[in-house]
Amino acid sequence: MSELNSAGFPVHIGFIMDGNGRWAKKRGLERKFGHKEGAKTFRKIVSYCKELGVKYITFYAFSTENWKRPKDEVEAIMALFDQYLDEVRKHTKENIRVMFIGDKSAFDENFRNKMIALEEDSKDFDAMTLILAINYGGRDDIIYAAKQVAELVKSGSISSSQIDESLFSNLLYTKGVPDVDYIIRPSGELRLSNFLIWQAAYAEYYFTDVLWPDFDKKDLDKALDEFKNRKRRFGGV
Ligand code: FPP
Repeated sequence: MSELNSAGFPVHIGFIMDGNGRWAKKRGLERKFGHKEGAKTFRKIVSYCKELGVKYITFYAFSTENWKRPKDEVEAIMALFDQYLDEVRKHTKENIRVMFIGDKSAFDENFRNKMIALEEDSKDFDAMTLILAINYGGRDDIIYAAKQVAELVKSGSISSSQIDESLFSNLLYTKGVPDVDYIIRPSGELRLSNFLIWQAAYAEYYFTDVLWPDFDKKDLDKALDEFKNRKRRFGGV
């Protein structure tokens, strides 16, 4: 279980970047323009979190279910990721570690190699860890870990009595990352949508009607103020 950092902020914040499509629709634009604007918000929030000293941030960028969207929308989102990957590789001075969670096998080789290279090149950066959930699903994450557990038992490396929360957590995509403390979801939807379902067991939640492209520093300040007032008991009294 992670603790508050010294400034009273959550150690690990998860963002569900929702509302891009509605933001575009309100302006009579195609949905892809909402994602483009959402990507700008993403950049602003990453740098603000770093400024504030938040150590881990996870963004739900593309779910295992998002492939059901129209092809041109999926392509537009992938192009934004690709552009960001190129941009981040040039900004090593930021000292940000980048991790991807989700099943990388769905992506073309070029994109997959860029993700792997970025993870490798940034693995010793320690100002902040930025985690991008791309082709991610919480259930898929649990199945990914469960398959590894099955292999470990089958090969005799462990016995079934050794399976515990710690062993399981270390086989998830988020291996080594503290559980998420605070999940922020804009756009008025009140659900988790298969995001970090294991890791969010004791998370606090913050919902706001603001659409992701409009979400700004003030909105994050407000969410963080509210977090300070939450009393977390982790099942105790
Ligand atoms: C959900 O909003 C948003 C997505 C499925 C895509 C999120 C992706 C980005 C913001 C681009 C991120 C870019 C980088 C560089 C990480 P929605 O489309 O479901 O919105 P709606 O509910 O209003 O339709």
